[in-house]
Amino acid sequence: MPNDESLKVDVATHFEFGENWAAFSGSINEARIREAELGITNLISTGELAGRSFLDIGCGSGIHSLAALNLGAESVTAIDIDPASVATSKHTLEKFSATGKFRCLVGSVFDSPLDDDERFDIVYSWGVLHHTGSMWEAIENAIDRVTPDGKLVIAIYLKTPFCRFWKAEKRFFKSLPKLLRWPIVWLYSALCFIRILAKGENPISHIAEYEKHRGMSWYRDRIDWLGGYPYESASSEEIVNFVKRHGGELEKAVGTTPSIGLLGSGCAEYVFEFGRADAG
Ligand SMILES: C[S@@+](CC[C@H](N)C(=O)[O-])C[C@H]1O[C@@H](n2cnc3c(N)ncnc32)[C@H](O)[C@@H]1O
Repeated sequence: MPNDESLKVDVATHFEFGENWAAFSGSINEARIREAELGITNLISTGELAGRSFLDIGCGSGIHSLAALNLGAESVTAIDIDPASVATSKHTLEKFSATGKFRCLVGSVFDSPLDDDERFDIVYSWGVLHHTGSMWEAIENAIDRVTPDGKLVIAIYLKTPFCRFWKAEKRFFKSLPKLLRWPIVWLYSALCFIRILAKGENPISHIAEYEKHRGMSWYRDRIDWLGGYPYESASSEEIVNFVKRHGGELEKAVGTTPSIGLLGSGCAEYVFEFGRADAG
């Protein structure tokens, strides 16, 4: 079993997020890109983005880096520990961005490819810092990259009664040969399907409309959830208090009510502002 230090530094101990993003990237189109833009503007306004530098930590498919550029960010730096995520992000940005004001770098939030003194107006890290093997240290490192009056935008899994179960499931899933993972994916997808039906929704339209979740894919998100190891989670109070101790004032929080977590947890989204007189 990988220890805490190897989880932090060795991408081989992680779920192959990059492969999942590479498979997803073929479905990136203008409609998904618009939804990715909406995902960002639900948290920060275009006025706050325009002309600002944007760091995307754990860029995945690159669709949100692209969205930030489309929304007027002055420059975008996309980093990810997984070379396959970085290659996919580069491909996404080269294919869809007209500006060229981006760079995609392989690197970790713990061992950054950036210069020591580089800071960004917006540091964005959606669904990443809980997958690093050392979430609180990762949040600290993300905060360190924010300019004195910048913003931190993060999404972190909410703590639920089933988090211990899911952490064990993810470790097990990651340990399996790829062929043996499929029955788990199918079983879990079937359970999710049944839950949609139980809520009185039409599963076909639910799945078809899933791209409204930040441009994402229902099926790819099932795999991401089942495999997403390392895994940690936190209550919204823990996140807000932690960032506050580091000088960030909560500006906005979305989706902070935890579910029971039987079929998984959800990410709560947070926007923190730095440099306000009352922060501290
Ligand atoms: C669930 S994906 C989220 C991708 C993207 N932010 C999004 O919202 O679609 C998590 C990403 O974090 C990356 N990641 C994990 N540990 C990391 C680390 N220490 N530093 C940078 N990226 C990391 C993974 O490789 C993966 O691409």
